[in-house]
Amino acid sequence: MTIVAIDGPAGAGKSTVARAVADALGFRYLDSGAMYRAVALAALERASEPAAIADSIELEMGPRVLLDGLDVTEAIRAPSVSEAASRAAADPAVRRALVVRQRRLLGDGDWVAEGRDVGTVVAPDAEVKVFLTADPAERARRRASELGAEHAMVLAEQTIRDQRDRTRQHSPLEPAPRAVVVDTTTLTLEQVVRRIVELVKGRE
Ligand code: C5P
Repeated sequence: MTIVAIDGPAGAGKSTVARAVADALGFRYLDSGAMYRAVALAALERASEPAAIADSIELEMGPRVLLDGLDVTEAIRAPSVSEAASRAAADPAVRRALVVRQRRLLGDGDWVAEGRDVGTVVAPDAEVKVFLTADPAERARRRASELGAEHAMVLAEQTIRDQRDRTRQHSPLEPAPRAVVVDTTTLTLEQVVRRIVELVKGRE
């Protein structure tokens, strides 16, 4: 059983990289951010506090994200949900509930798990830990082209979310002990994936 933890800020390329590494290794892939997004979406829809529902909603995390049986894969990517997820993720009760669920999933099989606190909190014993990062302007450029949005606006929102992720009291975003920091600013996707696959193979 091997866990590869890939943490880092928004726009560093985590999702694309983590999926590609999981494919290359034949591991399963867990997007922990999608869980925070699904809780935030459920809370918005029900006009309730994320902490009040984080335990009770039904989540299925696969190629599609199912919330109480409904496919919310696209809905959780809306900008309003990004903002709500970042706020929900600052609530320790929400984090506790989701960390329990994440650990349960990761307890069985080989995984590439992506997030902000996988290497620090969710799976501190992960065999391989990577902290993926890139220049803020480059991260915003990538997200802007992905979303078809304006660079300056994406950069402004990203700065607020980065600040919230880094300074929150519970599980602030930071490289885990033993994490290999990979700066993707000038690397291609293939180069990043190769680097991480080599890290995994290197310890087998
Ligand atoms: O990575 P993604 O943008 O989908 O994550 C949504 C939000 O969930 C982020 O703003 C971050 O604050 C939060 N998050 C977190 N811990 C994780 C994954 C995501 O706090 N492990």
